[in-house]
Amino acid sequence: MIIILFGPPGCGKGTQASFIAKENSYAHLSTGDMLREAVKSKTETGLKAAKIMEEGKLVSDEIVISIIKDRIEKKDCEHGFILDGFPRTIAQAKELDNMLSNNNITVDLVINFSVNDEVLLNRIEGRFSCSGCGTGFNDETKMPREDGICDVCKGNNFIRRKDDNRETASKRLEAYNKETLPLLPYYKDKEVLFSIDGLSNIENVTKEIMSLIQK
Ligand code: AP5
Repeated sequence: MIIILFGPPGCGKGTQASFIAKENSYAHLSTGDMLREAVKSKTETGLKAAKIMEEGKLVSDEIVISIIKDRIEKKDCEHGFILDGFPRTIAQAKELDNMLSNNNITVDLVINFSVNDEVLLNRIEGRFSCSGCGTGFNDETKMPREDGICDVCKGNNFIRRKDDNRETASKRLEAYNKETLPLLPYYKDKEVLFSIDGLSNIENVTKEIMSLIQK
């Protein structure tokens, strides 16, 4: 099964994708994570992407399409995969369809998170993670059980994304509204688009997604 989690920054795509992927043995493909990894490793792609990401703009179609093309050829994608943060432009969506049609497959489900901007900005500003194991936390909704200690690996070092400040997050939202939102009619026409309430709590959102997958 091929699923796209669709929605603005901070709507919960990453949170849900990691859980749903594990639960269903699908691969979790996050272009944001892959680009951050490239930035960290200072690869050619990373060097090109770093400034664009810090400015809250979209990285070029050419770069992200080539990352995804390589990734979906990997063995762990054979059973299905969840796309988190891709596609983000019409050109990316069309190229994804081309890649899949080479293997006679299509996108099965596009899940659109319905949310509002103020909640998103608060969630983004509050987000941080453990530098050791990557477990995500949030100042507002999910603090570590023991102050300053990661619940999972017991590490005591936490990091925040460079683009998780109100100014850059607002720019990311602008980019989403201008370049990504126009994809909704594209998937509606293909009759694979379903909307869920992204303002509900994390467990309820997971339940809604699981029931769409099981339909
Ligand atoms: P990317 O990493 O994809 O960032 P994003 O789309 O802006 O999404 P986020 O990671 O901010 O949010 P999310 O929806 O995953 O929310 P999360 O689950 O973490 O992209 C970063 C950059 O890379 C882009 O700006 C661009 O430059 C570049 N890029 C990436 N892909 C690209 C592409 N295809 N084309 C071009 N450029 C690309 O949740 C957020 C917080 O809220 C967390 O703390 C979480 O705990 C909390 N939370 C989640 N759900 C709930 C809930 N239901 N209730 C309460 N709190 C919740």
